[in-house]
Amino acid sequence: MKQEVASFLDYVAHSPTVFQATQQACDMLDAAGFTRLSEHEAWEILPGGRYYVTRNRSALVAFAVPENGFTHCQIVASHGDSPTFKLKAHAEGEAAGAYIRLDVEPYGGMIMSTWFDRPLSIAGRALVREDGRLVTRLIDLDRDAALIPNMPIHFNRDINSGYSYNPQTDMLPLFGGKDAKGALAAEIAAKAGAKEEDVVACDLFLYNRTPASVWGANEEFLSCPRIDDLECAYTSLAAFIAAPAVGHVNVCAVFDNEEVGSLSKQGADSTLLGDVLTRALCALGLSDAQIRAALAASFMVSADNAHATHPNHPELSDPVNQVYMNEGVVIKFNANQRYATDGRSCALFRSICKAADVPTQVMANRSDLPGGSTLGSIANTLVPVSTVDIGLAQLAMHSAWETMGAEDCAHLAAAARQTFETVL
Ligand code: CO
Repeated sequence: MKQEVASFLDYVAHSPTVFQATQQACDMLDAAGFTRLSEHEAWEILPGGRYYVTRNRSALVAFAVPENGFTHCQIVASHGDSPTFKLKAHAEGEAAGAYIRLDVEPYGGMIMSTWFDRPLSIAGRALVREDGRLVTRLIDLDRDAALIPNMPIHFNRDINSGYSYNPQTDMLPLFGGKDAKGALAAEIAAKAGAKEEDVVACDLFLYNRTPASVWGANEEFLSCPRIDDLECAYTSLAAFIAAPAVGHVNVCAVFDNEEVGSLSKQGADSTLLGDVLTRALCALGLSDAQIRAALAASFMVSADNAHATHPNHPELSDPVNQVYMNEGVVIKFNANQRYATDGRSCALFRSICKAADVPTQVMANRSDLPGGSTLGSIANTLVPVSTVDIGLAQLAMHSAWETMGAEDCAHLAAAARQTFETVL
């Protein structure tokens, strides 16, 4: 297994929710000598310095300032959240007089059927009262703790002809027998290292415990949860950390809440990226006009995965612009600006990939299928920089178990590194 793939799988395994994904990113940045900044304080930014900021502990922006002057920023942005189910505040409910099941609600647009009959666990964060103040504890039960059981086919003979899943009745996970009442709160408190009465509130999610698998005739495929968008988030962050900053400020952003439209204080549709860049450039002594000029000259790569042509349904992809796993970085186009790519940003990114010897492919949706959207165009309305939307080709996007090409982490790693190192 290639080093990039092994490191990516390790990152996914330790990122059951966006909170752990962000914490792991912070750990990588800390290990590389970055300075953590707080949005609550004034910043001192020095030439040659490397810094990062988190918001809500679920999104981050990291930046590296060159030693000898700069004219603009070069940004790679992705997202760290994935579709899942969130536990409601009081989650434990009795069912059929014999069970405890958990009351959950969908987060994002998952393929519901893929969540059945899998080992699930629970992770997220708890807010704990400690010495008169509230502190955050990351929580991961880290064991097979719940399961959403399918109906047997004898109760639902039409299941293979299409079934409309009701999230309030069909998707609630079984957590224990009737004696399990209270067990979840006790386990969360134990994991938080606190008394139950000191756990004031939580943000908890289900996650799929199935371990990753590398498979195929030549082990060319790889399946695991949360490939969208941790594949891009991890790979671009690792490239950002490894790249020196020369001639421009390098920026790596990993947003939260892309799967629910990016409209939150830590999403791409927030002030996060603009706040961090403005504050950093201001602290370096740039005037308001100079900051606007630097941003106008900047370039952003918005990295979020793309749909590989489906082996059983190639007709769902555009007949000409089809993309495949293991065949390089995908550049995404959409005339209606669901993707921010235009001829100029595509040309710049193609040149970057050519310099790094990374193959590229082009994706457009069928004109009669709306397809997805992503964070590039949304971030652009707040921080107007020339942007290319890219990603890696994958199958079964938003399944609990997605599939990607084993070669593609290396493709994006090289393209992202070249993006940070090229002086545009
Ligand atoms: Co995505």
